[in-house]
Amino acid sequence: MSGPSSYVPKLGIAKWLDARLPLPRLMYDSFVAYPVPRNLNYFWTFGGILMLMLVSQILTGVILAMHYTPHATLAFTSVEGIMRDVEYGWLMRYMHANGASMFFIAVYIHIFRGLYYGSYKAPREVLWILGVIIFLLMMATAFMGYVLPWGQMSFWGATVITNLFSAFPIVGETIVTFLWGGYSVDNPTLTRFFSLHFLLPFMIFGVVILHVWALHVTGQNNPTGVEVKAVAKDTIPFTPYATIKDAFALVLFFAFFAYFLFFIPNYLGHADNYIPANPAVTPAHIVPEWYFLPFYAILRAVPDKLGGVLLMFAAIAVLVVLPWLDTSKVRSMSYRPLARQCFWAFAVTCVMLGWLGSRPAEGIYVTLSQLFTALYFAYFLIALPLLGLFETPKKLPGSIAESVLGKMKGGSGAVVGAAAPAEPNTKG
Ligand code: HEM
Repeated sequence: MSGPSSYVPKLGIAKWLDARLPLPRLMYDSFVAYPVPRNLNYFWTFGGILMLMLVSQILTGVILAMHYTPHATLAFTSVEGIMRDVEYGWLMRYMHANGASMFFIAVYIHIFRGLYYGSYKAPREVLWILGVIIFLLMMATAFMGYVLPWGQMSFWGATVITNLFSAFPIVGETIVTFLWGGYSVDNPTLTRFFSLHFLLPFMIFGVVILHVWALHVTGQNNPTGVEVKAVAKDTIPFTPYATIKDAFALVLFFAFFAYFLFFIPNYLGHADNYIPANPAVTPAHIVPEWYFLPFYAILRAVPDKLGGVLLMFAAIAVLVVLPWLDTSKVRSMSYRPLARQCFWAFAVTCVMLGWLGSRPAEGIYVTLSQLFTALYFAYFLIALPLLGLFETPKKLPGSIAESVLGKMKGGSGAVVGAAAPAEPNTKG
C-alpha cells in the first residue's frame, strides 16, 4: 500500500543520512506521503489519539516513579506525598489515573469502530490480532497499576483477581503463590507489580509499532469497506489531510480529558482507595475499575469459579478468532442492515454487562448477567457466522471515490460532485 518511496532528500546531511539510516525516509513515507482513503470519518482519528495517550501515560508514569516508594508500609504515604508535596505531583497523578480511563475510552471506541466497519476482516487479521494483544497488555498494566497506591481497593482487588487463578486444577495454588511471592498479597506482590507495571507499557509500545507496520502493509479500511482501487482517485496524502483532522480530534479529546482532570478528578476512582490497605477489613463491595466491569460480570455470571474464569478469558479469546467467524464478504455494517441491528444489540449488551459488573452478584443481577453473557457470545458464535450466509447486503459503491464524489461521467474519469483536492495524490 505504501508502495515505492517518494522521498527525495534535499540537504547534504539528509542525503548522507539517507544512505546510512533512512529514518527520515521511513517517516516521510509513513506519515507524509502515505495515501489514506479520502472518505475516513472521525472514528479513524482514535488510533492517533491512542498513540498520544500511550506517550502521556509513559511520561507521567516515569515522573511518578521518581517519587513513589514500592513498599507495603510506604506506598500509600508516598502517593499522598506526591499529591501534596511534589511540585505538580497532583497533576501528574491525576493525569496518569484519569489518563488510564481515557485510554480505555479511546480503545473501546477504536475496537467498536473496527467491529462496525469490519476492519478485522482479511487482509487485516494480523493487524486486528496485534490489537487484541495490545488490549490484553493494557488490561494487565491497568490492573497492576491500580494496586500500587496500596489503598483498600488496591489490596482487595488484587486479592480477588489473583485468587481466580486458584480455580485451575492441580497448578492453581502454585500459580497464586507464584503471583503473590508468598502466601498472601503483601510486599513481594507490590514490588513485582510495580516492576511489571513499569515494564509493560514499553512492551505495548513495541506491539503498537508492529500494529502500525501491519496497518501500512494492508492500508486502511474505510467506512465503505471497499478497498482502494485507484490510488489517485480514492486516496489523499496523509499530510496535511489526516494530520490536521487527527490534530483537531486530539484537541477535542484532550478537552474532554481536561474536564475530568480539573473538575472531577476522582469521579472515575473509588473512595475506598483513599483508605490505606488493611488485610483485616474487607470492603463492603469490591468493584474493579469501570473498564473491567463487562468482563467482571461475565466472570460472576457462572456459579462455578473455574467456569467463570474460563468464560472471562473466552470473552477475549473470541476476538482473536473473529476474522474467521464472520462469514460475510461485505465488510462495512453500513451495507449490512441485519448485521447492523445485531451490532447495536451487541453494543447495548456490553453496556448492560458493564452495569451488571458494578452490581452485587445476587438475585436478578446474576440472572441478567447470564442472559447478557449468552448474548455476548451469541453475537460472535451465532449471529456473525450465520448472517454472512443468509443476509442480502445493500449494493456497494463501485469505488471509494464514487461513494464520496458521486458517479464518474461515462468513461471520462472526471469526478463530479464535491471538489477534488487541488493536487491529486499520485504517490504510493
Ligand atoms: C495502544 C493501543 C493502540 C494504538 C496506539 C493503536 C494505533 C492504531 C493506529 C494509529 C491506527 C491507524 C489509525 C486508525 O485507524 O485509527 C490503528 C488502526 C487499527 N487498529 Fe489500533 N491501536 C491500538 C489498539 C488497538 C486494539 C485494542 C485493536 C483491536 C482489538 C486495534 C485494532 C485496529 C484495527 C483493526 C485498525 C485498522 C483500522 C482500519 O483501517 O479500519 N487497535 N491503530
